[in-house]
Amino acid sequence: MDFLPGFHPVGVAQWALVVTSIGIVLLLSFLVLNSRQAGLSHIPGPFLARYTDGWALYTAWRGIHFHNKVHVQRGLQARYGDVVRTGPRSVTVFDPAAVPVIYGVRSKLDKGNAYVPFRQAGMTTSLLSIPDEKTHSQYRKLVSNAYSMTSLKGYEPYVDDMVNRFVEVCNQHAFARKPMNLSLWCQYYCFDVVSKITMGKPLGSMQGEGHDAYGLVQRVRAFGFYSGLVSQMPWLHKVLQDNALMRKTRPSPFMKVVGGTVQARLRAPDPEDQPRPDLLSHFVATHAGYPSLMDEKQVLIMTSGNLIAGGLSPSASFDELCRYLATHPGSQDKLYAELQQAQCRLPASYDHVKNLPYLEGTIREAYRLHSSTSFNLQRVTGTAGLELPNGVQIPPNTNIGCPAGAINQDVRVFGADAAVQPRAVDAARERNE
Ligand code: HEM
Repeated sequence: MDFLPGFHPVGVAQWALVVTSIGIVLLLSFLVLNSRQAGLSHIPGPFLARYTDGWALYTAWRGIHFHNKVHVQRGLQARYGDVVRTGPRSVTVFDPAAVPVIYGVRSKLDKGNAYVPFRQAGMTTSLLSIPDEKTHSQYRKLVSNAYSMTSLKGYEPYVDDMVNRFVEVCNQHAFARKPMNLSLWCQYYCFDVVSKITMGKPLGSMQGEGHDAYGLVQRVRAFGFYSGLVSQMPWLHKVLQDNALMRKTRPSPFMKVVGGTVQARLRAPDPEDQPRPDLLSHFVATHAGYPSLMDEKQVLIMTSGNLIAGGLSPSASFDELCRYLATHPGSQDKLYAELQQAQCRLPASYDHVKNLPYLEGTIREAYRLHSSTSFNLQRVTGTAGLELPNGVQIPPNTNIGCPAGAINQDVRVFGADAAVQPRAVDAARERNE
């Protein structure tokens, strides 16, 4: 039966095929053109990476999922050398000599779009995600006083309170011969410490049996996974953010408590229960002096950003440090002997422990073996491009970055045993000297 005269189903299928084919040809032409325009054909790298960031996205997913990020990075270096094209407009540099050229304060390279997912509430002024160096240094100057050595020493009593609680919990578990999830407690401890030095009060993670206050540990972990992926294809973040299903309509409990504290402190800058300055009091004082740049929203962004940035990396690093020490009893003994010889009391002051070489070496070694970032800290080459120390020319507007994990295991810097983890902590002192 002919319902629509002149309408043939086969014709529709043919049209669909033609339209799809044209779409594919246009897409492929765009990818090839985009790849050629980048001017990176002299840089070796995986075939797919020349045309699409999808390769980097997939590789990042594998690295996170199988916990073998550094292994993958080192495999790339072994195959393609020190400078590898990892995207149509992205280059990864494994040469340690390039680190100061890309990240040095004098280089002044802007940050790339990989930082877009780190914007808070879409604002472009959260310190971590400000792309251009000029604006970044303007905002950084506003708060640099809060991070000076004098200010940091002022926060020490806050940290001591948290150290005392952490040791109390460890003792309780030890005396009761009860197993303790040290990894989790490292996170509770670091988030409470950073909350105490930022807002003068802990989030409460170490109270009682310990718990993930405001679900922060869980949320930050999920965000680490998310940002590790979307930073490879930042336009994905925008698509997901604009999606009605993903859009958040209400602030999280964490943002509610931070927002409430910030508002209260903006209204009463020196409350009686605030015996000594914390980071927020510095931010509030800056607000009073520079209200247009450091407006109330900026105080909130600095506070919440600090809580997340300051809890996330230290907790992961502290967790690794404890793990290495727990699995290397010999190193533990050496460290304990050094602390005893220095007649350290609990909680030890920074001045008392700052010149202990084995302690310093152990901490540095844990940082070295644990790469805290899930993606290269991306920078963008300026209008003049960039010449790398090994002579390779990088054209303008190229995303460039060094993979911390692979660089930290580079034999040219750390010696032949750089990747041999069991010897790492014992070698700490030697490396530090
Ligand atoms: C083990 C300790 C830490 C590690 C490994 C670490 C690591 C990092 C890294 C990799 C960045 C990004 C740098 C970039 O993109 O160029 C960063 C930025 C930042 N971190 Fe940390 N961090 C640590 C401790 C802290 C603490 C304790 C605080 C706060 C009290 C903090 C607050 C910040 C802030 C505010 C930024 C943004 C700075 C800017 O862009 O100028 N971090 N951190």
